[in-house]
Amino acid sequence: MRFFVDTADVTELEKLVVTGMVDGVTTNPSLIAKSGRNILEVTKEIADVVPGPVSAEVTATDYDTMIEEGQKLAKIADNIAVKVPLTVDGLRTCKTLSSQGTMVNVTLCFSAAQALLAAKAGATFISPFVGRLDDMGMDGMELIESIKDIYDAYPQYSTEILVASIRTPRHVERAAEMGADVGTLPPRVLWDMYQHPLTSKGLDDFLSDWGRTGQSIL
Ligand code: G3P
Repeated sequence: MRFFVDTADVTELEKLVVTGMVDGVTTNPSLIAKSGRNILEVTKEIADVVPGPVSAEVTATDYDTMIEEGQKLAKIADNIAVKVPLTVDGLRTCKTLSSQGTMVNVTLCFSAAQALLAAKAGATFISPFVGRLDDMGMDGMELIESIKDIYDAYPQYSTEILVASIRTPRHVERAAEMGADVGTLPPRVLWDMYQHPLTSKGLDDFLSDWGRTGQSIL
């Protein structure tokens, strides 16, 4: 399973890149706003730091302007995936950009029917938002299961499932159990995945016992 980081904070991203766990990045207009940076500049910096796909989202809602924005974003670097919302115009844009050889990430997916449309439009990635479904009292991970079943039934679709709106390491575990292709993780969730109280306790015990031996490996 590949891990993307859901952030437009380059400093935070660089700390994660050195762990060797980062395969790509996703951004959205809210994350760009939070960064306080210019979208073109910060996206270029991110694309230089991470070799894998970097999603940059269009902000227009009509087809013609989405195409124009998407083509401009795609020119930033070879590893840009243009992110479009799951709307009629968004999927038209997806089809056009995909046919031009641009990676497209279709975002704001909340149903399996929408995911099917995105696959037919040639999306590189479909981004179902599991956390936001959980927030509504639903089980967001059930959507991943359903999309996986549909995509597995039609191997001619090459769209990858990019689990988004992840809030906890448990979301990541469940996505991996289902065989999701990618998860996009807020930095905190990726750091949290390293943690287990028994790991910390076990290490403390080992080091304390080692200290009593008076030995040194080096
Ligand atoms: O990048 C889109 C997605 O991951 C947003 O997550 O936490 O704002 O629902 P969230």
